[in-house]
Amino acid sequence: MCGIVGYIGPREAAPILLDGLSKLEYRGYDSAGLAIYNDGVITVERAVGKLVNLYEKTDGGNKLKGTLGIGHTRWATHGKPNEVNAHPHSSENFSLVHNGIIENEAELRRTYLRDVEFASDTDTEVVVRLLEKFTSEGEEMDVAIMHLIDIIEGSYALAIIDRRDPDHMYAVKNKSPLLVGKGEGFNMIGSDAMAMIAHTDTFYEIQDKEFAIVTRDSVELYTSYSKRIDREPYKAELDLSDISKGTYPHYMLKEIEEQPLVIRRIIGEYQNEAGELTVPEEILADVRDCDKIYIIACGTSYHAGIIGKHFFENIAGKPAESCVASEFVYNTPLLTEKPLFIFISQSGETADSRAVLVKIKEMGYKSITLTNVKGSTLSREADHTLLLYAGPEIAVASTKAYTAQIAVLAILAASVKNRIGIDLKYELALIANTIEGLCGDRELYNRLAEEYIAPSRNCFYIGRGVDYYVCLEAALKLKEISYVQTEGFAAGELKHGTIALIEDGTPVVAVITQSNTNLNTRSNVKEVISRGAKVIRISSKSLSTRKDQIVIGDVHEMLSPLVSVVPAQYLAYYTALHRGCDIDKPRNLAKSVTVE
Ligand code: AGP
Repeated sequence: MCGIVGYIGPREAAPILLDGLSKLEYRGYDSAGLAIYNDGVITVERAVGKLVNLYEKTDGGNKLKGTLGIGHTRWATHGKPNEVNAHPHSSENFSLVHNGIIENEAELRRTYLRDVEFASDTDTEVVVRLLEKFTSEGEEMDVAIMHLIDIIEGSYALAIIDRRDPDHMYAVKNKSPLLVGKGEGFNMIGSDAMAMIAHTDTFYEIQDKEFAIVTRDSVELYTSYSKRIDREPYKAELDLSDISKGTYPHYMLKEIEEQPLVIRRIIGEYQNEAGELTVPEEILADVRDCDKIYIIACGTSYHAGIIGKHFFENIAGKPAESCVASEFVYNTPLLTEKPLFIFISQSGETADSRAVLVKIKEMGYKSITLTNVKGSTLSREADHTLLLYAGPEIAVASTKAYTAQIAVLAILAASVKNRIGIDLKYELALIANTIEGLCGDRELYNRLAEEYIAPSRNCFYIGRGVDYYVCLEAALKLKEISYVQTEGFAAGELKHGTIALIEDGTPVVAVITQSNTNLNTRSNVKEVISRGAKVIRISSKSLSTRKDQIVIGDVHEMLSPLVSVVPAQYLAYYTALHRGCDIDKPRNLAKSVTVE
């Protein structure tokens, strides 16, 4: 979940690395560090907390002279987030940065490094110490790297420099993402393209257990058994403006308000020549051929998956189940005879989901990945990919990727079989307009968040059917960025125990967009009001009453999550704002969760 950048070229490395790290801070932000080579010496600077602390400590990088270096933002897995544990980690000759987890670090320490005194509590230091040991015993650098690949178990993206070598940097990868950026007279290493896009749009993919030897003018890729790989670089379709906040105070607000554009882009991308929304025939064939769809995802993507299950069963008549990846991988349910797996992941790098993909591939089952990131691990390793076209999502709290996931799932389900005759193109266009309308009501959400939710320690979202599924996502959004303890609850289930938590002033947000459960949910609202709750109602226009504070335009009931989630995203945003939270980088979280 950490972020890595490396640079070798003619320019001062430190400012370039700091700029690259600022694009990766979403991956982790409890500490950061740089290692810069200059004239036979590697200088390391590290700072606890946000990148700005390292920036200040190094005067924007100007204090560190040298044209070769590596940098890192950390999300702690081993050892406290302090300066000693911050990367880069160094031995006598090497400095390296690492993203991932070395699973057999204890065994490696016992087997190879008994006499070594470690400076930190990290698993990463084991790697740099091993490299020092192997090279000091006479192994050439490439041999020592292959030796590492051979004995290390776990996930790693590594960038390495050597104080005796001004002309090389090394990249090694297994399970954690890493790219090499190809420049003219310079080259870079980065956890993702965004860290390098200001300098180059051309990248080499590094696959698992491969390594790269990078100089100012060349990039050589090798397998773990020393075979040179002949791989063409690819061009990333990323624009610097896509990753800037523009005039918005936070990425999250920008991304919420990009949702109409994203839905319209999806309509454009999934349209065939006849103007119908569909997906490639080979994907449809695999979906039609299966006897059950298993949707695998985490967090927000899992919440989109639950709605996907609803679509597959109700639009396409296909049995489906949505599963939390980290549970599924070690507690796999009894599978049907011909299962098909759909992975949903904004980043395409989530380790929990990938563990399932590896497992089901070994079992010989087919897979489709829905992702926002072309060329990501889950995309490369699945049989098929459907892209989300949401554009880079920077805020840790996922917003536009969630709605994009739901829209693409609806298109996939309706392309398989449209049993209910839904005119998806029309409905999605209407939804884009309806969300645009909701974006005009910022002040209302701001006021409700300030008055109802921000002062409270806890909060409930209640709803039934797809409204309940939206409540799960709405609750996650609120808790992850405002730290208000929130539960998304099936409205009818509340009275079976949890209603005991309702007291004077407890905020309850009810989502009411389904005509078949409208009155039932309203009864549940009365139950909580009579126990002191302060209720915000989000309802669709045709079901609304005068007391409902947030009324959303009518859309097809099955697709209402695409719209009803938007006020909930705003409520989370404004609650976090009133509570003084760091909205785009909430505590303890990282955008891309690349450890299990
Ligand atoms: C949502 O706001 C969170 N950032 C988190 O739950 C996220 O959805 C989850 O980690 C899965 O990530 P992915 O979609 O990139 O796989």
